[in-house]
Amino acid sequence: MRNRTMKRRTFLKQTTGAAVGALSLPLFIPSSALGRAGSVPPSERITMGSIGVGGMGTNNMRAFLAQPDVQVVAVCDVVEANDAYGHWYKKGWNGAWFGREPARKIVENDYAQKGRSGQYKGCDAYVDFREIIARDDIDAVCITTPDHWHAIAAIMATTAGKDVYCEKPLSLTIGEGRAMADAVKRYNTVFQTGTQRRSSEQFRFICELVRNGRIGKLRRATCTIGPNNKEAPPSDWKPMPVPEWLDYDMWLGPAPWAPYHKDRCLYTFRFGLDYSGGQTTNLGTHAIDVIQWANGTSETGPVEIEDLGSEWPSDGLFTTATKVHFGARYANGVELTCETAKGGTWRLDGTDGWIEAHGNEWTCSPESLKTTVIGADEIHLYKSNDHHRNFIDCIKSRERTAAPVEIGHRSTSICHLGNIAMRLHRKLHWDPVAERFTDSREANQLLSKPMRGSWRL
Ligand SMILES: NC(=O)c1ccc[n+]([C@@H]2O[C@H](COP(=O)([O-])OP(=O)(O)OC[C@H]3O[C@@H](n4cnc5c(N)ncnc54)[C@H](O)[C@@H]3O)[C@@H](O)[C@H]2O)c1
Repeated sequence: MRNRTMKRRTFLKQTTGAAVGALSLPLFIPSSALGRAGSVPPSERITMGSIGVGGMGTNNMRAFLAQPDVQVVAVCDVVEANDAYGHWYKKGWNGAWFGREPARKIVENDYAQKGRSGQYKGCDAYVDFREIIARDDIDAVCITTPDHWHAIAAIMATTAGKDVYCEKPLSLTIGEGRAMADAVKRYNTVFQTGTQRRSSEQFRFICELVRNGRIGKLRRATCTIGPNNKEAPPSDWKPMPVPEWLDYDMWLGPAPWAPYHKDRCLYTFRFGLDYSGGQTTNLGTHAIDVIQWANGTSETGPVEIEDLGSEWPSDGLFTTATKVHFGARYANGVELTCETAKGGTWRLDGTDGWIEAHGNEWTCSPESLKTTVIGADEIHLYKSNDHHRNFIDCIKSRERTAAPVEIGHRSTSICHLGNIAMRLHRKLHWDPVAERFTDSREANQLLSKPMRGSWRL
């Protein structure tokens, strides 16, 4: 299977190399989807499968559907169709929000509307993602499952010769992230981490300002991340019957067995340490990824990490930090703090100025930074203005993406390091080359987690 996928990958590169080499050229494809994708020769069409089509997975799938040279041929979710947490999102197709059947309908309706005949059937829906990975006619997968599945699915896909778009936080543990990065390197996979700020013009410009010394020497990076946005069920919560639309065993996968409760699973998995790292990893990866970019440390990490007053629940279904507060120090002296606060801001302080960002707004001192031009002979960072498009272009060119696996792994790692220091309520010393703590066996034991049953990386 791997050989067949690899042959198709080489074919794609050979047949599209010229067009991709000149990315600014408009694609010649007329705008009418499988009418449109139908008019793109198969040799230039990237076939994709979407693994996990809940809230963000459906967004990702729609973003790939909008690419004229992508054909989404398969979707997968352990949920058939669910409207149980619609209050989080706008109501979608036919009264059901998420799951494999709504996703299949979205794909087929999209191609039907854009095609000439107004009809389209050709998207398969699976419960088990291994069936997508086993298909040698699929070039790439988009993984938007809960975090505890990312590493297994990404490594399986990579090993089978597929390119991978995988959501942040990349992993559940630092050990998983390292294994993902090693596998991607070994198999020469094109990999995009879902940290989309790497494809934002604003964040790139801010990082270029810092990297070119416009605020002097960077001294301090501060980010705030939003608090938990869902109330934990009462501590005497009772197990619920597993709904018939959910394959719960396959939702749990490598995580320890636990009785079903709706707040364990969809969306709120974020607040369970068996499935995620809480807002530390959920929101922290976005903010810390930009700090890593600005600091020029994207492929390494800090040397010290410290709890600064985190708070954790004493019991109940939600087990992640209720108040995040940790600090870190890099070998270059830069200090980082990450803390729970409403809003979600970050600030970079240098010896000669500062930059503060909140959503799409940013302020700075001196104010003239806003209109500064980065000279031709100065540092220019990787340029991408569309994270999904960038992934597809790189599949064709076999070049590095805006957020390759090592970068995604290192940003996620800092959040994991923060969680470990906060869970142990102490300061720890970290060797970013060996990716081990130098002063705590207990902390090193938290670098990986056992997996349930026969699940392995
Ligand atoms: N980049 C971003 O801005 C961004 C935003 C939101 C979420 N995310 C990330 O996306 C991921 C999913 O988050 P969400 O909010 O969409 O959660 P969600 O619960 O809405 O969606 C996850 C989906 O994966 C499905 N799933 C679980 N196990 C599966 C399996 N074995 N195979 C196939 N599908 C499976 C679930 O049934 C669910 O439909 C998380 O890692 C999250 O951090 C990224």
